[in-house]
Amino acid sequence: MARISASVYSSHIPAIGVAIDQNKTQEPYWAPLFQGFEASREWLKDNPPDVVFLVYNDHATAFSLDIIPTFAIGTAPRFEVADEGWGPRPVPDVVGHPEFASHIAQAVIEDEFDLTIVNHMDVDHGLTVPLSLMCGKVDAWPFQIIPFAVNVVQYPAPLGRRCYRLGQAIRRAVESFDEPLNVQIWGTGGMSHQLQGPRAGLINREFDNAFLDRLIADPEDLAQMPHIEYIREAGSEGIELVMWLIARGAMGDGAGGPAPRVVHRFYHVPASNTALGHLILEDKG
Ligand code: DHB
Ligand code: FE
Repeated sequence: MARISASVYSSHIPAIGVAIDQNKTQEPYWAPLFQGFEASREWLKDNPPDVVFLVYNDHATAFSLDIIPTFAIGTAPRFEVADEGWGPRPVPDVVGHPEFASHIAQAVIEDEFDLTIVNHMDVDHGLTVPLSLMCGKVDAWPFQIIPFAVNVVQYPAPLGRRCYRLGQAIRRAVESFDEPLNVQIWGTGGMSHQLQGPRAGLINREFDNAFLDRLIADPEDLAQMPHIEYIREAGSEGIELVMWLIARGAMGDGAGGPAPRVVHRFYHVPASNTALGHLILEDKG
């Protein structure tokens, strides 16, 4: 059967993608941030997955305000790279896993989470920046990827506790696939940031670090946090953090097993207008 071996969490700040693409990673502003991912890239080389189930949010790239799916699973064989603002990044297209994605869609829907199935979808910085941070510059991404888009752009966004439970359902779905695939689940977005209005530029280190503590030690309790607290403490775009609860819900302790092992934890400010957070958890269940 397929199994989930680890979860990875990372912000997806678009300026990071530009820094990588324009070879600015050694500049004084960026160097400390990229140093925080050196251990992660080594770890990924030593622990290569077959498939990454990549939870991210689309930023009005694939979906406009015409159609706003709450949870959308990419079932295509290939996903093209697109982006707003700076334009498509010069990174490889994403190769999917239609058979496995379709299996997960069926299993999760029969587990009472109604997903939108997407057979054609371009992917933006929400997905490509975490890939670049973890893989560096590559000619092809070294694993297949199932993009899983969550609406955190237009209200109402899904609740944290629904995201956590969805992660538990995704684990069950993965484990019912009859092929020996090594699967990682990644949760992306965050941490505290607000890009608009009078509080633009808001960063809250204390909240972010407490979020990481609770995500590691007591995710069920963290999942109860109401939306208003994300907005108040982490800014309007801080709501992206609910996506981390999907990845965390897919760890073994959410299914009654042992807690995951913390492999790496990193937090860095400044990165554009956003606090960058990063965590790797190895599954022990
Ligand atoms: C920015 C955009 C994002 O989508 C995000 O999550 C963080 C930062 C930005 O434009 O700086
Ligand atoms: Fe974003």
